[in-house]
Amino acid sequence: MISSAPGKVIIFGEHAVVYKRRALASAINLRCYVKAEKKDDIEIISEYGKTGLDFRVHPFISQSIVNFKEVTDFKGVRVEVRSKIPPASGLGSSAAVTVATLTALNELFSTSLTKDEIFELARKVELDVQGKGSGTDPFISTFGGAWIFPERKKVNPKFTRLFVYDTKKRSITAEMVAGVAERREIFPEVFERIFDAIDAITLEGADLFEKGEVEKLEKLFFINQKLLSAIGVSTPEIDSLVAELERRGVFAKITGAGGGGCLISLKPFEGAFEVKINEEGARVEDFEDWRFFDN
Ligand code: MEV
Repeated sequence: MISSAPGKVIIFGEHAVVYKRRALASAINLRCYVKAEKKDDIEIISEYGKTGLDFRVHPFISQSIVNFKEVTDFKGVRVEVRSKIPPASGLGSSAAVTVATLTALNELFSTSLTKDEIFELARKVELDVQGKGSGTDPFISTFGGAWIFPERKKVNPKFTRLFVYDTKKRSITAEMVAGVAERREIFPEVFERIFDAIDAITLEGADLFEKGEVEKLEKLFFINQKLLSAIGVSTPEIDSLVAELERRGVFAKITGAGGGGCLISLKPFEGAFEVKINEEGARVEDFEDWRFFDN
């Protein structure tokens, strides 16, 4: 039995959303797949290796299994993961593996949880592992589509293509969120105003996305990126790449936690790959083996 859940892009509003401002986020067509089978002990298999419950190698899957045991008690499970979402890169791989695992366990143990209940469990896993988080990633991964978060307002974008550039520099969301919290402590008034500005960008941006106004949206990508840089989640390498792209008329911004990870833009550029905004959230697949995965 295989389940899957999508990765996501945050189009506007990352970090500010941790401080109760709005973010515009969308599921994408890259998914994480989890195969779950009943077993006497716990076994987790991924590209990081084969472990039992292991909060260092497999923190999100281990926490998902532990939290699911509160829904129904079971002896053991074998969980195998294959993912098309680059890890630790801002594309929501952690939330996707969490939601896909919980969806698989729900199916395997016939616990009939609703999507809302799966989201609540995934949200708790995010908090248990990261300590802080807005819930945006597990929400998008569970329900799919494009949304303004936290109010859960559905957005229907006029266009569905975005371009993603992976800096290949990995970063840990919890550390990036903690870094913003530390810098905010020093200048809370300044940071609150930056978060307010990002909130205004999200609202404006969601409207422009529905109207399909690319040029205005690019101006908001530009401003949001500068504000992310101001709160310290960009890097000198990202700043110079973004400046070089701007000279060529391409406006890119960090998506997700920053500190490396991925950039998104509305126009293609060298090294960037296309992703599609995707309506589909978590689902139970109708195939039982991995043959589909490499195609
Ligand atoms: C991570 O994808 C987005 C952040 O805003 C953290 C969060 O919302 O939990 C950086």
